[in-house]
Amino acid sequence: MEVESKAKLLNKKKSFSHSTVLIAICLFSLFLILILYLAQPSPSFSPALKLQNSVTFLPIKDTRFANTAMKGNTWFMSSLNDTYEENESEYLYFPSKASDEKLLCIKRNDISDGTRNSYALAYPEGLTNSTTFLKGLAFMSDTFYDYGNLWHELTAMMPFVGWSMKNRCAKQARQVPVEEFEKDERPYCFEKAMVMRHNVGKMGKQKKLQVSDLLRCKVRQFCGINPNGRGREVTLRGEPSITLTLLMRNGLRSFKNPTAVINVFSRECAMVDGCTLEVVQSEDLNFCDQVKLMTSTDILASPHVAQLTNMLFMDRNSSVMEFFPK
Ligand SMILES: *[C@@H]1O[C@H](CO)[C@@H](O)[C@H](O)[C@H]1NC(C)=O
Ligand SMILES: *[C@@H]1O[C@H](CO)[C@@H](O)[C@H](O)[C@H]1NC(C)=O
Ligand SMILES: *[C@@H]1O[C@H](CO)[C@@H](O)[C@H](O)[C@H]1NC(C)=O
Ligand SMILES: *[C@@H]1O[C@H](CO)[C@@H](O)[C@H](O)[C@H]1NC(C)=O
Repeated sequence: MEVESKAKLLNKKKSFSHSTVLIAICLFSLFLILILYLAQPSPSFSPALKLQNSVTFLPIKDTRFANTAMKGNTWFMSSLNDTYEENESEYLYFPSKASDEKLLCIKRNDISDGTRNSYALAYPEGLTNSTTFLKGLAFMSDTFYDYGNLWHELTAMMPFVGWSMKNRCAKQARQVPVEEFEKDERPYCFEKAMVMRHNVGKMGKQKKLQVSDLLRCKVRQFCGINPNGRGREVTLRGEPSITLTLLMRNGLRSFKNPTAVINVFSRECAMVDGCTLEVVQSEDLNFCDQVKLMTSTDILASPHVAQLTNMLFMDRNSSVMEFFPK
């Protein structure tokens, strides 16, 4: 006030402006108090609504990016930017510095229309007890392709495997790969969540090889096969023995005249010392039979179909011949 009195004495105009400022501040404070008062949730608000009001839920699928979903911005959780480390897959991790230490929450369950599902970021302290809190680490993956397709399903796992390899202690605590959420309005929030939206996109070649090695090794262990494969064998004349596997299948995209195809491969194989031809009908094999077959295969010949996903179980440096029967 002393300062203000002095100012009054010095300049009348200035004192006028001072009181104007004071009045403005008072009015503004009143206004602020009013706003804060109005912003208080009324007691009739459900806890779910409270969370809903404190955080903004956005559609999980942003149709503005429908035509560019394959490149640039992704339409899945479009407001968030990926974290990228050289040679690794891009990812979103919650909570993290990048997420401002917020958790990932999702709401509703509509498996046919992603725009009806929504996501939000929330501080752990902001969660109400109407929120379903899922403990552990959840892995979420978005692909532009169809998860019904084995190849895309398996390669969608690769970024997560790659990340786990780098972060040794991180295990996917939530074992169920596809979570069925109840159809309700309650939000689900994850203690930890990893979201990957670009499959193996920016993963470096070396990293892809390492991830494939690990997957192959685990699958062989699961089937009781030596993880190192069958090892190199040589013929009596010292030539490497080569197993050429012709993987046949019935129905769509199969060879029209399988006998003719088999004859061509038999003839070619017979001309190479150490070559053995195996003709196998993929429908006859269970999972571990397929892994075993691929472990002993050096060259795989197959039409372009889902069974080619099995190439992941072949040793490094083996070869694939892919055919597109007309
Ligand atoms: C994401 O990146 C874009 C482009 O670099 C930037 O403009 C935007 O602010 C970022 N968004 C967030 C949420 O960090
Ligand atoms: C990424 O991969 C390339 C090629 O393998 C390598 O030269 C480079 O050093 C790698 N960068 C990092 C950060 O690991
Ligand atoms: C929710 O939490 C509050 C306070 O922590 C507690 O009084 C109330 O019983 C809880 N409600 C439910 C349904 O658990
Ligand atoms: C694969 O082939 C390359 C080049 O021929 C060779 O250097 C490498 O050791 C082979 N890797 C394996 C796992 O056999």
